[in-house]
Amino acid sequence: MRNAYISGIGRYVPPRVVSNDDLTACMETSDDWIQQRTGIQQRHYSDGVVGAADMGAIAAREALARAGARAEDVDCVIFATLSPDVDMPSSACVLQAHLGIGGAPAFDVRNQCSGFLYGLATANAFVKAGRFERVLVVGGEVHSTGIDLTTRGRDVAVIFGDGAAAVLVEPIDDPQKGILTTHLHAEGKFAEKLWLECAAARERPRLTEAMVAADSSRVFPRMEGRYVFKHAVQRFTEVINEALTAGGYTAADLDLLIPHQANLRISQMVALGFDLPEDKVLNNIQQYGNTTAASIGLALYEALETGRVRDGSLICLAAFGAGFTWASALIRW
Ligand code: ACO
Repeated sequence: MRNAYISGIGRYVPPRVVSNDDLTACMETSDDWIQQRTGIQQRHYSDGVVGAADMGAIAAREALARAGARAEDVDCVIFATLSPDVDMPSSACVLQAHLGIGGAPAFDVRNQCSGFLYGLATANAFVKAGRFERVLVVGGEVHSTGIDLTTRGRDVAVIFGDGAAAVLVEPIDDPQKGILTTHLHAEGKFAEKLWLECAAARERPRLTEAMVAADSSRVFPRMEGRYVFKHAVQRFTEVINEALTAGGYTAADLDLLIPHQANLRISQMVALGFDLPEDKVLNNIQQYGNTTAASIGLALYEALETGRVRDGSLICLAAFGAGFTWASALIRW
């Protein structure tokens, strides 16, 4: 059976950098608090009217160019985002139009921080089964327009940043190379621990100005931070173990672990549990904050650019996020 591999990768982060000190202008917080709790030093915010698919299209064009493929060669588009450009249609369709292609299937994955790996696992299954030859997986988020940038929303707001990343997934004949295993999980009973409640189809009407004014905690993301933190460490660990076991490896065999960039402290605790030294774990949340569906792609891009992933490297991608959802992929580069 053929394998699937990542043949090209691209990224985009908006140029505007927002430091922790910049945030002190709109909320009571401090560089010390943010760095101590999360490791984040800065994040990027988009300016003007920019959607997840606008950024995703730039990342996708780079991924296609690096793979030596044309947009019209893409036979399926999967777009992971929690901040779609519009409620309908999907950002995958918006992205298709940006790329000037059409006809092939395009759909969104709404699985937050695990969305990129859900997309990658789906692409992997399609390609392995021979259903598609070139699947474009994009993760993109514009968080900056949807967070509460006042003291009331500071626990969530300081964490998130904007960005996009894209990979092209194609078949490879070598069974030892490419995406070796993928693992996906969800536990919906924890949905309310990290969620954005409104606008919601079950509300009547879905959203009014009065609701925004009176009930702002429902129209911005809400999180039980400590609860999420504990579950994240546990699930990251489980799902990395699951991938290693399925592949017949141990953590010592890994050349690099690329965790979703949720919080530097989470990554450090997970790494400690596997006895992985710092140089075997990629952390770049310091520069980008949590870019949710884009974070693993942005981190993988950096790992390739800096030579931390090379031909033959064994890498593990892992994610945890709202849902709760968690996922992993083991890749021989
Ligand atoms: N600046 C200053 N003080 C703050 C801030 C801030 N930005 N935010 C909260 N505080 C205050 C609180 O008000 C509280 O004050 P009090 O003790 O006087 O009441 C105090 O700091 C402690 O607040 P906690 O929320 O308990 O802080 P905690 O140590 O838990 O850190 C954090 C919060 C960083 C959010 C942490 O809980 C975390 O990282 N959780 C996991 C996040 C995560 O991984 N999410 C999953 C991915 S996201 C996704 O899927 C979409």
